Order: sequence, then structure tokens, then C-alpha cells
Amino acid sequence: MQNTAAVPVITIDGPGGVGKGTVAHLLAKKLNWHILDSGAIYRVVAFAAEKSHLSIEDCEGLLKLIKDLALHFSTDAEGVMHVLLNEEDITARIREPHIGAAASQLSVYPAIRTALMACQRQFAQFPGLVADGRDMGTVIFPNAQLKIFLDASPEARAIRRHRQLIAQTINVTLKDVFAQIIERDERDRTRAVAPLRPAEDAIIIDTTILSVDEVFTQVVLQWDLCQQEKV
Ligand code: DC
Repeated sequence: MQNTAAVPVITIDGPGGVGKGTVAHLLAKKLNWHILDSGAIYRVVAFAAEKSHLSIEDCEGLLKLIKDLALHFSTDAEGVMHVLLNEEDITARIREPHIGAAASQLSVYPAIRTALMACQRQFAQFPGLVADGRDMGTVIFPNAQLKIFLDASPEARAIRRHRQLIAQTINVTLKDVFAQIIERDERDRTRAVAPLRPAEDAIIIDTTILSVDEVFTQVVLQWDLCQQEKV
């Protein structure tokens, strides 16, 4: 049995559309580490609930559903992460905006957050883990070696998220994406348990006017500095 407490972890938290996923993937690829997209787990629960005609407000029902969730992640030859539920590939379907909204709604329940903790911590495997989400540095991996919090204006995030969705052939207007970002920010930041906020020891990077490459360079620099501090 591995002592997973010794596994190095880098957390990348921040609001929706800030580019956490892109930066986390680039970093995991560079370091050859594992990756956790914790938002995908909340999205899978929302998707499974919809499939079982379960209300997002039925916390008991959702907890039962989580217990039986046959969820797997796999990486294809191009390094693209696939989400499988009962062996069905639902990677694209969980990206639909209404699933994101439902994921945000069900994520306010403390019991649901607790039920999903173990599943997220299992991702901490050697040689290391890059974990992206909202509470990776504050709750799930409080002892992470490096904690990054990415932020950006809602306008910049809406433009990025809109571009992403269009590329995935999900047809939405920029205006709708912006409205969803504002609504989701409010819920994610104000919920009672594990609200979206930087950990006290997180490094905050405002990415509003930065390119992906520039953000990535800053994160790599922070990791290098963090390594140097250890010697
Ligand atoms: O990052 P995302 O858009 O895929 O996340 C979808 C929702 O899941 C987000 O609005 C809130 C919830 N979530 C969370 O509460 N905690 C996390 N660590 C990740 C996501």
C-alpha cells in the first residue's frame, strides 16, 4: 500500500472559465504526473442524476447515486482525458452548460462534498498529482506542495468558455455564457462549505490579460521556486 500522504501535489483552483483545466493539463504533461479534474466529478454526478430523473434537490437520492457510481477516467493516445460512466464515454456530454449549472447546484450540499472526498484523494498517486478545482488547496489537499489560484475578470472568462464550447460544437451565445458565469460565481463563492476562495498559502495569478503560455510559464516558475526552497 502506497503512503499517498507523501505524494507531491500541486493544486490549481479558481472560478469557471479561468483556464485551470488547460494549465493543469500542460503542467501534468510537463511533469509526467497524474491529473484530477475535480469539476468533472461533480459534473458526472449531475449527469447521472439527470439520467436517473433525480432532482438536484434530492440530496439523499444523490448520495445513494454517488455510492453506486461506476466512474472511470482514461487517457487516450493523444493525452485526452475521457470520462466513462458505466463504460459509456460521457466526456462531451458533461461539458454541456446545463450540466455545469446542475453540478454547481448540487455542490452546495456538505454531505455530497464529503461523499466525493475519498474519490478525489485517490488520485494522489506517485510520481505526483496536479489537481484542479475550487477547493483543492483549501480542503482536499491542504498539504499540497504548491497552491495556485487563477483568477480573471468575468468578461475574459466568458469569452474563453464561449470559445471552448463552440470548439466542442456546443451552440451557446456569449451573452448566455456570461450570465451563467456570473450566476455560478455567486453560488460557488457564497456556499457555506468549501466556498471558492484562495487558500491562505496560495499564489494568486490574475490571468485576465495573460495568454495560456504566459500563465503556464508563471506556474512553472513557481514550481521551480518551490523546489529550490526545499534544498
Ligand atoms: O470546474 P467545473 O466548471 O467543471 O465545475 C463545475 C461545478 O462543480 C462548479 O461550478 C462547482 C463544482 N465544483 C466544486 O464545487 N468543487 C470543485 N473542486 C470542483 C467543482
